[in-house]
Amino acid sequence: MDTWKISGGESLFGSVRIPSAKNSVLPLMAASLLCSGTVTLTDVPNLSDVMASRRILQSLGCKVRWKGRTLSITPGQQIGSTVPEEYMRAMRSSVFYLAPLLVRTGKALIYTPGGCRLGARPIDLHLKGLADMGAEIRQSGNALEVTAPTGLHGAQISLRFPSVGATETLLMAAVCARGETILRGVAIEPEVIDLIRFLQSAGACITGAGSRTLHIMGRDFLSGTQFRPCPDRITAATVLCAVAGCGGEALLTNTCNDDLLPIVRVLRRAGCSIAACGPHSLAISSCGRVGGVENLFTDVHPAFPTDAAPLVGAAMLRAQGETAITDTIFENRFSCAEGFSALGASVSVSGRTLYVHGVPALRAARICAPDLRGGAALVIAALQAEGESYLTGIDHIARGYEDLTSLLGKLGARIVSTHWMDE
Ligand code: EPZ
Repeated sequence: MDTWKISGGESLFGSVRIPSAKNSVLPLMAASLLCSGTVTLTDVPNLSDVMASRRILQSLGCKVRWKGRTLSITPGQQIGSTVPEEYMRAMRSSVFYLAPLLVRTGKALIYTPGGCRLGARPIDLHLKGLADMGAEIRQSGNALEVTAPTGLHGAQISLRFPSVGATETLLMAAVCARGETILRGVAIEPEVIDLIRFLQSAGACITGAGSRTLHIMGRDFLSGTQFRPCPDRITAATVLCAVAGCGGEALLTNTCNDDLLPIVRVLRRAGCSIAACGPHSLAISSCGRVGGVENLFTDVHPAFPTDAAPLVGAAMLRAQGETAITDTIFENRFSCAEGFSALGASVSVSGRTLYVHGVPALRAARICAPDLRGGAALVIAALQAEGESYLTGIDHIARGYEDLTSLLGKLGARIVSTHWMDE
């Protein structure tokens, strides 16, 4: 079983460059199907979810080339309509193929998407919006057949919740639908804005980016384009929380500081010193035992993001004071609490709230990553624990972090791949 040995108890010092955002790259890869020419994405991180998307595109008949960190996608003349079930199950982002396939082939055969087990993750908003644009939907067990034999038409759609994924699906559908679509109540997460910028660079007519209402005038096809996805704010949050919890000083480059403000504010409240060094770089310093942050609630952007909730929880395990973090987005965000406890933390979960009573020290343990961000949170926790911890379940982490061991290794963190049997 692949395992990381994490030698904790040291402060972190150094400089790291933040890679591009997984949650931007994945919808952009799917949106490439809408383009008639080659799409070139630069500075793409090598993640297992990116590899899974690459396999989906290839299975649909696209030519996909990796060169260095550049990904070129050329949709073939003949595009398939089915995403195989094993690919759909591999990740939640497989749902992004629904709209482009519908636009491109008039039909999409997909299966219920997989992904982190954070609670119920329905796709009703995606489907309802597509139905408003003329799609017909048939579901049989896990299989979904969505058809639009005469194409999609513009519509006025109001989302009851500003879902990131549903906003992205409906944007991809609307840019090539007949006539105008007005999307109300949309998500404004930085990765949604990135998708809008990408689509615009390929010729799409979208106005209102950054507001809750988007006006989209559909056109027959989009052109090829070259695009560099935005920096990953959650990877940046991971580094910031690791330094906050372990103590030390770090410089983060290739950041989008405005997008990080909700996280920076919380860590400052806990006593970290964080300063911008220009618009794309941040310096953090922490004494190690920060103060607790009571009554922190996650919410949609521009509020504190759900993906950073377990990371901040991990940074607070040795805080002098109490922390309570409530995730309003997902039901089961804090599965990592079991691992925190194994490391000697004083934590409990009630409903959607993680309670942390800071303790002076953590101890090494054998722990298992329950999901992507919960896994990263356990790495942060183990780095604060004296001794050698062993973390399994690292496949979850590889889905969203290019190489977390070497990223944190640049700050002096000692994390090596090993095997249970080696020890
Ligand atoms: C995106 O997921 C991200 N994933 C998630 O990041 C992130 O946690 C989430 O947005 C919230 O910011 C990608 O971008 C690939 P949502 P998504 O649709 O699109 C409910 C990570 O760790 N909902 O905004 O699935 C849903 O149940 C991942 O990188 C419906 O009810 O999030 C949830 O409670 C994990 N019906 C809420 O909305 C729908 O049709 C937010 O979901 C869709 C969503």
